[in-house]
Amino acid sequence: MDKLIIRGGKPLRGVIRVSGSKNAALPILLAAPLLSSPATFRNVPKLRDIDTTVKLLDILGLSTHFENGVVKVEPARELKFEAPYELVKTMRASALCLGPLLARLCRARVALPGGCAIGARPVNLHLTALEKMGAAFNLEGGYIDGRCKRLTGARIVFDFPTVGGTENLLMAASLAKGETVLENAAREPEVVDLANFLNACGARISGQGTTVITIEGVDELHGADYAVMPDRIEAGTYLVAAAITGGELLVKNCPVDELDAVISKLREMGVTIEPTKEGAIARAGAETLGADVTTLPYPGFPTDMQAQIMTLMCLAKGSGTIKETIFENRFMHVQELVRLGAKIKVSSQTAFVRGVPELAGAPVMASDLRASASLVLAGLAAKGVTEVARVYHLDRGYEAMEVKLRGVGADIERGKE
Ligand code: UD1
Repeated sequence: MDKLIIRGGKPLRGVIRVSGSKNAALPILLAAPLLSSPATFRNVPKLRDIDTTVKLLDILGLSTHFENGVVKVEPARELKFEAPYELVKTMRASALCLGPLLARLCRARVALPGGCAIGARPVNLHLTALEKMGAAFNLEGGYIDGRCKRLTGARIVFDFPTVGGTENLLMAASLAKGETVLENAAREPEVVDLANFLNACGARISGQGTTVITIEGVDELHGADYAVMPDRIEAGTYLVAAAITGGELLVKNCPVDELDAVISKLREMGVTIEPTKEGAIARAGAETLGADVTTLPYPGFPTDMQAQIMTLMCLAKGSGTIKETIFENRFMHVQELVRLGAKIKVSSQTAFVRGVPELAGAPVMASDLRASASLVLAGLAAKGVTEVARVYHLDRGYEAMEVKLRGVGADIERGKE
């Protein structure tokens, strides 16, 4: 297994480029089974989750080619309906092929993500919504087995604005008979990117980016040539990297509008952020201040930036709080940050952070994707050497992170555990 070795304390300076969005590319690629002619996807990041997705498309019978950020996909001669456990267990987003397969084949057999019971890592909102469109599901042998006649349009009110659920339904409803209205839909920019892609393929979707999305089903979707949006979470992570190292970075392709909540919070904490034509410049302020952050569905503060902003807060003057409302148990980075000298206490859903003047390098272990990013940020700021183990988590979501960081002056290298 790989680890990252970071000698901290170097201010980062220069230009760092943001890759295509992982969370937009995944559903957009998984929409390929809906298409009846070839499609080209551009600005696709080279990441483990994307490789898994491309492999899943191959298993479903499509022909794929992925090179230099471009994925070319040709429709299957015979589309398969099963997403096997070996792939799904490594990537929860695989559940997103339920909608497209039911819409296209009226049958889908998809392993339950992570091998967990549905209650623990639920896709219940996806299933309930698809049932409204006429699908019926059986859970057997660790698989969700779905069948339907042609899906029919329905009015669906989500109990929670689930990102994946909204995406699954957008895909299913695009080829359904009649009109589907999704209420309390997720407004995340990645949902909008998927809807725009589907419209480029001939779908009739309106209202994306608002809480009510209307989809007029069509009989066929054709391929398109589409560039995936830049990754707002990667961009946000690099804005924090500039601030936490006392440096200055031009974050190229930074989607400034989509990062509104993050940029406002960083400014409140004393970081200077200047939008430019190319992206945004982030500069550390004279001092970093504490702040209160609550994670919320978009346009609120993203849960995927929670760990990174916590790391910045660890070095703030004064105190701050972070309340996580989207996922339970998303504070696994806390105990690792504490190993570096951070002062954090967690009580139920809230972390209380008391700023310290400096962090000291130590071996730490990555527990999930965004937690790993927060440990890298901590290592960049800490005195001495930080070794981040289990960076395969990081490789799921950040393209060439250590190469990009080295390019702006970080002392970081990859080694073997
Ligand atoms: C997506 C993102 C993830 C991000 C999250 C929230 C991808 C590939 N992943 O995940 O990075 O952190 O949005 O912005 O785009 N829930 C249910 N039942 C369901 C579905 C969800 O209870 O059927 C719960 C989840 O357990 C979680 C919350 O709702 O607590 C949010 O989940 P959701 O918005 O669906 O996130 P994902 O699509 O899984």
